[in-house]
Amino acid sequence: MLEKINHTASYIRQQINFQPDFGIVLGSGLGGLVNEITIQRALDYSSIPNFPVSTVKGHSGKLIFGTLGGKNVMALQGRFHYYEGYSMQEVTFPIRVMKALGVKRLILSNAAGGMNPAYQIGDVVIIHDHINLMPSNPLIGKNYDELGPRFPDMSEPYDKEMISLAKKIADKKGYRSHIGVYAGVPGPCFETPAEYKYIRTIGADLVGMSTVPEVIAARHGNTSCFAISIVTDLGGFDEAEKVSHEAVLKVATAAEGKMTAIIRELIAEIG
Ligand code: HPA
Repeated sequence: MLEKINHTASYIRQQINFQPDFGIVLGSGLGGLVNEITIQRALDYSSIPNFPVSTVKGHSGKLIFGTLGGKNVMALQGRFHYYEGYSMQEVTFPIRVMKALGVKRLILSNAAGGMNPAYQIGDVVIIHDHINLMPSNPLIGKNYDELGPRFPDMSEPYDKEMISLAKKIADKKGYRSHIGVYAGVPGPCFETPAEYKYIRTIGADLVGMSTVPEVIAARHGNTSCFAISIVTDLGGFDEAEKVSHEAVLKVATAAEGKMTAIIRELIAEIG
């Protein structure tokens, strides 16, 4: 794995003359952020050695390098989900490459089901902790000390400074926003009513099918993480409501303005 990461990172270094400080995973709700990046170079995933190729509708595959809010960023346009059949190592491979290229802070977005009764569809939730309900973990297997410790600390999975700054930005803009706990599930089914209730009962405010593996791999490498969800549907209440991928994408797309504004200002303001 180390050789693959180093090979991919050195290939990318040959393509770009650029040192990224921020890594961004353009998940649901952040697709539009790409229009705010002053792009220096975009590489198709298919041209990058060892890179997996994205399969989901609505997730195209490009690695983008450029500036945003005066900072050097690299953005993944299209992420890899566990439910697509990728291994946890494949899902987190781009995060390892980001670290090898010098990324210090990682920013992710996702669409999530809301189970906290205070949440409404379209709300923004800044994640401050997570519960891994996926059946695996990207760190299972041989540990490479060059990447991080065998038993990494997870006492501050999400960076407190970025959380409080993002909350201030959202409040100033008058967006409905919360700070919550995200449960990562494998998918691809949405949850049954009993599963939503269970996930709420164990302490999660949100549920979704991404983010947790990437944050685990990033924290293994001591990269600071920030993640933000858009609540696209509600679960765990007495009336079970139908959820569809189309409805999730529609809400996520409608929220792009809010998500983009928060991330743009967060990157501009953070040191
Ligand atoms: N559950 C799991 N993943 C999701 C959901 C949900 O309700 N909404 C968006 N992604």
